[in-house]
Amino acid sequence: MTEDHPTHIDPSAEFRARARIRDRADYEARHQESLVDPEGFWRRELAGLLGDWQQVRTGELPHPRWFVGARLNVSERCLDRHLDTPLRHKAALIWEGEPEGPQGQVETRTLTYFELHREVVRFAGALAALGVGSGDRVIIYMGMVPEAIVAMLACVRLGAVHSVVFGGFAAEALSSRILDCGARAVITQDGAWRRGTVLAMKSVVDKALESAPVDHVVVLRRIGETLPVTMQSGRDLWWDDAVDLRDPTRGGAAVQVDGEHPLFILYTSGSTGKPKGVLHSCAGYLAGVYLTTREAFDLRPEDLLWCTADIGWITGHSYVVYGPLANGASILIYEGAPNAPDPGRFWRIIERHGVSILYTAPTAIRAFMRWGDQWPGKSDLASLRLLGSVGEPIGPEAWHWYHRTIGGGRCPIVDTWWQTETGSMMLTTLPGAVAAKPGSTGLPLFGVDVAVVRADGSDCAPDETGLLVVRRPWPSMLRTIYGNEERFIAGYFAPMPGFYFTGDSARIDADGYVTVLGRVDDVLNVAGHRIGTAEIEAAVGTHPAVAESAAVGRPDDLKGQALVVFVTLRMGQTADAGLREAIRAQVAHEVGKFARPDEIRFTDALPKTRSGKIMRRFLKEIAAGKATTGDTSTLEDLGVLAALRAGNAEE
Ligand code: WT7
Repeated sequence: MTEDHPTHIDPSAEFRARARIRDRADYEARHQESLVDPEGFWRRELAGLLGDWQQVRTGELPHPRWFVGARLNVSERCLDRHLDTPLRHKAALIWEGEPEGPQGQVETRTLTYFELHREVVRFAGALAALGVGSGDRVIIYMGMVPEAIVAMLACVRLGAVHSVVFGGFAAEALSSRILDCGARAVITQDGAWRRGTVLAMKSVVDKALESAPVDHVVVLRRIGETLPVTMQSGRDLWWDDAVDLRDPTRGGAAVQVDGEHPLFILYTSGSTGKPKGVLHSCAGYLAGVYLTTREAFDLRPEDLLWCTADIGWITGHSYVVYGPLANGASILIYEGAPNAPDPGRFWRIIERHGVSILYTAPTAIRAFMRWGDQWPGKSDLASLRLLGSVGEPIGPEAWHWYHRTIGGGRCPIVDTWWQTETGSMMLTTLPGAVAAKPGSTGLPLFGVDVAVVRADGSDCAPDETGLLVVRRPWPSMLRTIYGNEERFIAGYFAPMPGFYFTGDSARIDADGYVTVLGRVDDVLNVAGHRIGTAEIEAAVGTHPAVAESAAVGRPDDLKGQALVVFVTLRMGQTADAGLREAIRAQVAHEVGKFARPDEIRFTDALPKTRSGKIMRRFLKEIAAGKATTGDTSTLEDLGVLAALRAGNAEE
């Protein structure tokens, strides 16, 4: 399908008239100010969010300190702060469970700021009674239920550091995270609804704890009698019983911490087998998510914001929880799958609750396109006024479909580029200020100084492809890799001295718009999930039949990238369909079902350089069905390439 689409889409006059920032000159003046006078800029824009602080920043990359002198508690800044304002009884969150009856009967819950605060204080009291205190690490392994957010904020209230592990991760992946951060407690639920079936969660935790013991497990009852769970006495407690243990008079008081105190650890995939624990700190992170939520979504008090990301990913942390709550916004959270019980679910949710801002991922948008226009066509989407996209490039095709079919042609789309490490959005087009250019994310947000550079660090010319770097510290940047400062430096600061290295390639047009092209490292983006090739290879390698493997990405219409693994077998093993399935199951077991390879290709040998490095470039081309090109003189065994190519021709 090739249609003639406009390359620039300006905000409508109506949108612009009400927007916070209405033209490019205003955006540029403020962006400039944020770089030359950060002290004045942040003091004005944050308007007391962080309480008092003395100095906006000391130190340079890689170790800045932001908002020096701030003492705060992020849960108070997100909750208590609103209680003596008109927001007291405003909905903080509206939740909808997955099961849905034929007449649209659903379970919903609304928690006002008053109610959410009460729940957080009570649960913080429960954790305190279990001995959780400032600096302790707590793992949260839950689905999209309100208590997951209560658990996050309760940890923060005590100065404890949460690490949310996405509910799709398997026991092995969970135990390695528990061990890496040295967690004292795990908060989980009996099970979760997912696409019409119940996913057991507590039993996964039990399995993980066999190799990674913790002192306490708190279990929320979401499913009930139909899902029996085993409770280990002395270790496991039901959520309600834990809450009863607290001292109701003083349990759960907010602990004031330094602005640089750790807020959370979130594990993400890098280019080695072991996931890295990205550490964010309190004041800078909160400042970043607060400002970007307000400006990129052009937030209004009456908005209902639905960020569809799971809280197990950074997008869920920043734009389901911390950014919106710091702004006193109302958020929608939905427990289940977009196609449960049918592909119209998202659009019914928008109609039912009056969602005004929808923030989702290109992989979801492409799935909706494939399911067909009849599904959104059944619901009234008039409440929407702004759309957002994140996670991978949204190509013009999906952009225009989203704009027309979901946004009715009236809603601006903000394509936001950022990373787990950046904490908050870095690039977008402020919706009332500048035109969107489908395919390109846009311009730097406040305090953000990016460049596209050549391998030698010099600036690229307009439209020249290079490496995307950040040239100065920004408040919500990661502070380190938990327990691995060396990896922090090696991964982000050694590749491009003086700069933060994003791992992405990009180009900047004459107008200053940045187009992000994709990762240059061994990190894949499969259906919006970041997957390290080395992590997959490590998982594949645990299968006894496997000698060696190499994972690469192949372009995929739906998932962005599909995961292809080339496998060589040990002597005496036979490559057949059964083994293929067994290897896929092994990855599901080690990492999680979402990381299962789309394709396993057996080969006699992998193409390597003389020093033994796998030549992924060739494998990528082969996986994509292209003929290999370029210099092959460094191949150790040319026959390998020929064999791989021949294998390709057969399929
Ligand atoms: C990588 C970060 C933080 C959002 C969720 C993903 C890619 C993210 C975009 C975008 C093009 C994008 C980059 C980045 N990415 N957003 N709008 N356009 N690419 O977070 O798992 O840390 O992955 O996602 O490659 O480096 P993540």
